Amino acid sequence: MKVGFGSDHAGIELKLQLMEYLKEKGYECTDYGNYDPNDRGDDYPVPGRLVAEAVARGEVEKGVLVCGTGLGISLAANKVPGIRAAVCSEPYTAQMAVRHNNCQILSMGARVVGRDLAKMIVDSFFGASFEGGRHAARVDMISQIETDYGKCR
Ligand code: RB5
Repeated sequence: MKVGFGSDHAGIELKLQLMEYLKEKGYECTDYGNYDPNDRGDDYPVPGRLVAEAVARGEVEKGVLVCGTGLGISLAANKVPGIRAAVCSEPYTAQMAVRHNNCQILSMGARVVGRDLAKMIVDSFFGASFEGGRHAARVDMISQIETDYGKCR
């Protein structure tokens, strides 16, 4: 599976650790930036958007985003139509984000979770499958909101 990674300066170290972790498990990992941990002026919406767009156009199947809290970068990713990015700080939510919400992107806060917990969260996210059925109908309702607001523009 191809996975896109993105982070701001706050998340670079954890992002690189998680890339190595998933590479060892056989995933094909691409880094969409940012790249300089000392550039404290970099902006999390940039990598959030890049990874989300890569998922939306099918360049990668899933994404992993990391910023300080996991929030800002997920908010940016979720603005890309069709993208569902979940901020997770424990494995249960990460698993359910896939099983019930069909999320394609996992977002985490490097200032919230440590490396080993982040790996457990990643394992739960990538080990889960969407259950479909009644959950698919609900995910479709989320998409409908995008469609409805798109018509207003
Ligand atoms: C950067 O200091 C911080 O604001 C960012 O990494 C993130 O936590 C924003 O949501």
